[in-house]
Amino acid sequence: MKKMLVVYYSWSNGNTKQIAEQLAKATGAELAEIDTVQPYTGSYDEVVDQGQREVNAGYKPEIKPLTVNIQDYDVIAVGTPTWWYTMAPAVLTFLSAQELMRGSKR
Ligand SMILES: Cc1cc2nc3c(=O)[nH]c(=O)nc-3n(C[C@H](O)[C@H](O)[C@H](O)COP(=O)(O)O)c2cc1C
Repeated sequence: MKKMLVVYYSWSNGNTKQIAEQLAKATGAELAEIDTVQPYTGSYDEVVDQGQREVNAGYKPEIKPLTVNIQDYDVIAVGTPTWWYTMAPAVLTFLSAQELMRGSKR
């Protein structure tokens, strides 16, 4: 059977966390959370503004090491809140660090 991981980042309300947990439960996948080394602080509006600057700049915040080794999985679902029409910067950091086509013939 294929081994599945749900990896997610969630900041404001835990919305993405909740969906990731439901998906993991429904599929029997394991869960791993992406978190930034530097926490986002300040009011919601301040973080919205900071997020806009980061998204526009393509900024990749440093993230903590995952608690799992993603090489161990066949299928990986990635959960992110929408930040300024795209993924949250922490998820960009995560995806940028992976060789997603490893083993592919294409
Ligand atoms: C920095 C920032 C930017 C956001 N940008 C968008 C956006 O472009 N479009 C949108 O529909 N929601 C946007 N939101 C709202 C979040 O996507 C939404 O509240 C999401 O459910 C939060 O998920 P979370 O609780 O897992 O962090 C933004 C929120 C933040 C903090």
